[in-house]
Amino acid sequence: MTTRVSRREFLFNWLVMAGLGAVGTAFAWIFGNVWTAASRFSSSSWVQISPMDRFAPDSLTPFPEHKIAIVRSSRKIGAISLECTHLGCLLNVIDQGFFCPCHGSEFGSRGQVYSGPATDPLPWHEVTERDGRLWVHIGEKLTRPSWLEIERSVLDRTPGDEAGRKG
Ligand code: FES
Repeated sequence: MTTRVSRREFLFNWLVMAGLGAVGTAFAWIFGNVWTAASRFSSSSWVQISPMDRFAPDSLTPFPEHKIAIVRSSRKIGAISLECTHLGCLLNVIDQGFFCPCHGSEFGSRGQVYSGPATDPLPWHEVTERDGRLWVHIGEKLTRPSWLEIERSVLDRTPGDEAGRKG
């Protein structure tokens, strides 16, 4: 026995199914975006460093536990790797950059090689600000700096930051 479906019923059923599909797709898209945003900072690749106003202008602040140093210029902030590009030893911060205690390589404050045996510059890490604190993505190294502009409200709170406030 066959059941005949009228054109009107067929069209109605088709519209209902298409509507349900569209609603489902929209929910999946929204859920995916919310999930991505929520997991961005809960990922173990992102580490919270400290309040943004902790770093003085033109400073290098090591965080050996994360193998990074925070590089602060007058108006920008970034994170550079503390792993020597020769054989991976942890670098020391010196006056104008970084020194490797293993074989003596020296790097400038932006990671440029001053003396070997290392030949490659230091890589960088992505940085971002959230709720007034600096976060660094330690899971991926970048060949170029990922500078974050420092907001005026942070410059106003940073002790000894006259240069940043004027600039
Ligand atoms: S590991 Fe740094 S110079 Fe060799």
